[in-house]
Order: sequence, then C-alpha cells, then structure tokens
Amino acid sequence: MSTPNIKFDFNNAVAGKANKHIVSRRQLASLKADILRYHTELQNERAAGKLGFADLPDTLDVAAACAKSAEAKKGKFENFVVLGIGGSALGPIAVHNAVRHPYYNLDPRFRNGWPRFFVEDNIDPDRMQALIEAIDVRKTLFNVISKSGGTAETMSQFLIFRELLKKELGERFAENMVLTTDAENGLLREIVNEEGYESFVIPKNVGGRFSELTPVGLFPAAMTGIDVSALLKGAKAMAKRCSDADLPKNPAYLDAALHYLGDVKKGQHVSVMMPYSSALHDIADWYRQLWAESLGKKLDVDGNVVHTGQTPVKALGATDQHSQVQLYVEGPFDKLFTFLAVEKHTNEIPIPKAFPGKEGAEYLGGHTVKELFEAERTGTEIAITDAGRPNLTITLPQVDEFNVGGLLYFFELVTAMAGKLYRINAFDQPGVEAGKRAAYALMGRKGYEDERARLEKSAEKSQDLIFD
Ligand code: PA5
Repeated sequence: MSTPNIKFDFNNAVAGKANKHIVSRRQLASLKADILRYHTELQNERAAGKLGFADLPDTLDVAAACAKSAEAKKGKFENFVVLGIGGSALGPIAVHNAVRHPYYNLDPRFRNGWPRFFVEDNIDPDRMQALIEAIDVRKTLFNVISKSGGTAETMSQFLIFRELLKKELGERFAENMVLTTDAENGLLREIVNEEGYESFVIPKNVGGRFSELTPVGLFPAAMTGIDVSALLKGAKAMAKRCSDADLPKNPAYLDAALHYLGDVKKGQHVSVMMPYSSALHDIADWYRQLWAESLGKKLDVDGNVVHTGQTPVKALGATDQHSQVQLYVEGPFDKLFTFLAVEKHTNEIPIPKAFPGKEGAEYLGGHTVKELFEAERTGTEIAITDAGRPNLTITLPQVDEFNVGGLLYFFELVTAMAGKLYRINAFDQPGVEAGKRAAYALMGRKGYEDERARLEKSAEKSQDLIFD
C-alpha cells in the first residue's frame, strides 16, 4: 500500500463565478501564462545556482553527516541549546515541536537518551539568566547558528556562553560548542578557524528563512533523535509533486496565485495560518517569518516603489475559536485562511460516558477527543466559508518527519513563486539588515558613528506626549 499524500483542498478559495470576495477561476486562468514564464525563470535561477533551497532535498549526504555527528554525542550531554535568531531559530523550533513529544524536556522517557532541547533566540536578559540557572553548562552542547556570522543577538549569546564554558571547562571549552555558519564569510567562520570548533556549513545560496533543511535545522533535529533524512525525502517528494509548470496542476503555484490575487484584487492583505494541531503551531510561526520577510518589500525588481506583502498571522485551532474566530467570521474581508489539518493523530482519547440525562455532557460521551477536534475544525471551516471568507485546507496524513519536510518545502516554493508574481526579490531582507545596522550603531560598533548620530537625532521625542 502506498503512503498517502499531503492533501490540498482549494475549493473554498476559488469561486466558480464572479464573487466580490473570492478569486474566480477566470482570474486564476489569467495568471497561467505568467506562472509558466516564472516557472522557467525559477528553473533557470536554479540551474545558475541562485535558488539554493530547491537543491536541499538532494543533500542526503549533509543529513547523514549531521546524524553521524549527533549520534557520536548521544549520551554525552544533558542539554542541547541553539543560539540563534530568526531563520536560525524558527525552523529548529518548528520541526522539534512538530515531531517530538510535546513534553520532551520534562521526562527522559520521551527522549530516548537524547539531550533536552532549548532555543535561546531572544536576548531578554531575564530569560537568559533563567537558562543559565536551569542548565549545567558543563553538560550542555551549544549550537551557535548564524548565516551572516555577525548578528548582534547571536554574537552576544555566543560570547556569554563561551565565557561560562571557559570558566568551567578551561582549555576544553570548545568541545561544548558546534558552530553553523557560512563556509568562508563572516566573523563566526573566522572564529571557527581560530578556536577549532566543530562546524557545519550553510550554503552560500540559502538565506536564513529558507535554511531549515540545511544543517541549521538538520543538526538540531538530529540532536533530538529526529530522522533528518526523512525530512529531506519528504521535501523531495513534495518538489516532485509541485514540479508542473501548468498552474492548475501545481498546488504550490495555485497557493501562490490565490494569495497574490487575493491580496491585490480582493483586499486580502492578511494571510492567516490556523493549524488544527498543536504540533504544527510553530510551523505557522516559521511560515510567518518566511511570508513576511520574503514578500514585504518596498521596491520591485525594477526599482519601483511598490510596498508589497501580506501580513501573516498565526492562529491555533481549536484554542483560537475562543479568541479570533469572531473577528474572522464577522470582521473585515481582509483575510485568506490556510487551515492545517491532520488525518491521523497518534492518540484518539475516548471521552467517558457520564451524567445520563444531562445533555450538556451526555452527547460527548462515547466520542473521542479526536472526533471533537475534527468537528471543531470542520465547523470553523464551514462558518468561515458561509461568511464568504476564502480558505484552503492542507491535510497531513500524520505529523512525521516525511510530511513535515514536505510541508516546509511546499511553503518555500509557494513563497518563491509569490515573489515572482509580486515581481520582488523574495530572497533579500533590506529591512532586517537596517535593524541590524541600527543595533550595531547604538551599541557603539566602530564604523557606525554617523548612523548612531542619525538615529539619536531621529529618536528625539516630544515631551508633551510622554506621561511618566
Ligand atoms: O531570514 C533571514 O535572513 C533573517 O531572518 C535571519 O535568519 C536572521 O536575521 C538571523 O540572521 P543570521 O542567521 O545571519 O544570524
């Protein structure tokens, strides 16, 4: 019997005839020729080595190297801590939380000998101190991840934990750190060469938010016992399913076209991703960065000011039915919804029969939690559809490495095609770089003096609007 595929259902996002709020088949058809052209462009860029993420499903050798290194460290460390931010943190968090036990860190029975898993992405000093108090650094492996090798948050984390390790371990401090960065460029690579850390390479042509299937994601995943080659195999299978240049036959291109048209023709400036699966909640967080940083651009490829981008929002079913769905059903028509569903959960959990005659409890007895979850998802889908709001559903047969790898690759390809449709560069992030430069300037980094003066001037505030 063959393994079931991830299923895509676009019915509620496409109108048979003209509809004020929903993209029509005719509008979709009008993009067919553009998609064909952009498909060829993407293929040419890939052939020229400029579309690095598309090559990652074939890097089984890299996955094997990550798994081998992790296996050699199994049993030697109590904790594994990722030091990184943005694309160097969101993927590792998303995959770990999707695939591993929700209470992985709490009980060794859920870890099969692998270390506890932490990601120190934010640089909130109180949280950092809490981590320092919670772990024994001597028994901790730190994985410093930075594509540029110079991000202030990551560099400061590295300096702090390196110092602690030096204090505790003396000469042997480097044995508790693995660095993942560019092969040649950036300060981290320079430091790897000077201090002799084990290191992994982020390919030059893969940017932060597209890097989960490089050692950025593969090594942390391997360190918690995740089958990293299955992640790549799932991505590869998805790449094959989404290889048709013909819009109606390619789910990734259809998804990109629906979001693009929804945004520019129907005012759907918000892309809501709502998994009905706690395991997939952080996939929506990962997607939020991918969609926002890739498509939120001031300039198009010709240098025209365009200010593109849909605002991505993450929600969680059923939790957010009691928080967001009121807005989704009755608020403005500015959203396109992506539901993530799961066919087979590991557990069903029967609801006991009790309180005969008390209908408020009795109707639940004999059903399962899975049935209730599914009923809530279907109910929300119908309510949103009946309210005239476009939505699509992506159903995973089950949450495992193969399907998660497939899902990540799917959204990366959707994003690449959406970038083409908006005619912007989906792979740069000038806005993020501006924030990084501001942090360097305000922290007194040499060479940023003019920037600091400019920032201090523009930060001047009117005192009449401040109440203290
Ligand atoms: O996607 C991106 O490029 C960014 O979000 C980066 O991942 C983030 O800024 C961290 O950068 P780096 O990995 O260079 O430290």
